[in-house]
Amino acid sequence: MFAISLGEGAELRPIEPWQAPEFLTHVERAREYAGPWVPLTVLAKDLESARKLLQTYADKQAADTGRLWGIWRDGTLVGGVLFRIFDTAMESCELGVWLEPSAAGRGLITRASRVLVDWAVDERGMHRVEWLVSTANGPSIAVAKRLGMTKDGVLRECFPWQGVRHDMEVWSVLAPEWRKAREAREAAGTGGSADRDPAR
Ligand SMILES: CC(C)(COP(=O)(O)OP(=O)(O)OC[C@H]1O[C@@H](n2cnc3c(N)ncnc32)[C@H](O)[C@@H]1OP(=O)(O)O)[C@@H](O)C(=O)NCCC(=O)NCCS
Repeated sequence: MFAISLGEGAELRPIEPWQAPEFLTHVERAREYAGPWVPLTVLAKDLESARKLLQTYADKQAADTGRLWGIWRDGTLVGGVLFRIFDTAMESCELGVWLEPSAAGRGLITRASRVLVDWAVDERGMHRVEWLVSTANGPSIAVAKRLGMTKDGVLRECFPWQGVRHDMEVWSVLAPEWRKAREAREAAGTGGSADRDPAR
């Protein structure tokens, strides 16, 4: 229900507190891979904490301050995309992502992120979409580049996580840049918005 096709048997759908058991099972598969970079994959460690985390995002959604979606592939929850921050007054939001390892290397996150940025920019009037990533996280920096983001700078040692103080790169794309790049992709037939749903 309420799914957006990402092609190749993959779908983007809301994920809600009642899905905590499925979410926890997925997070257990993702934890070792994503844990060093994405705290929620560590913080959701049992059913209670998984449900609490999903409830936090349900509350954010109700307040219009954040959102969370899952990515399913062939019926299995394999990753997620979220707006950790969604600030309509500032017209600025922060996008976050993760996968379990079996789902990596297929373009799922790039395609799902495009759906979210399209929605944030076109329907919600966001001017700036941010991506915060550790300088040590090459695959995530590659996604930011693939999304056409620009590196704004580095917040030195700003994020203490699992015994490491990470230097965090801030990447962003602005609404006019996003629209221009999307038009270029659509003209070239390489991943415009229409490509995300082959059924259309
Ligand atoms: C960051 C992360 C989500 C990136 O995953 P990813 O699979 O590399 O990203 P995508 O799903 O967009 O796939 C892109 C890869 O698939 C390949 N690919 C295959 N088919 C593709 C398609 N149709 N479209 C786009 N890319 C495709 C790309 O070439 C790219 O591989 P490459 O980097 O080796 O060139 C993943 O590494 C992860 O979950 N890491 C742990 C959690 C994490 O770090 N989250 C981010 C915190 S800031």
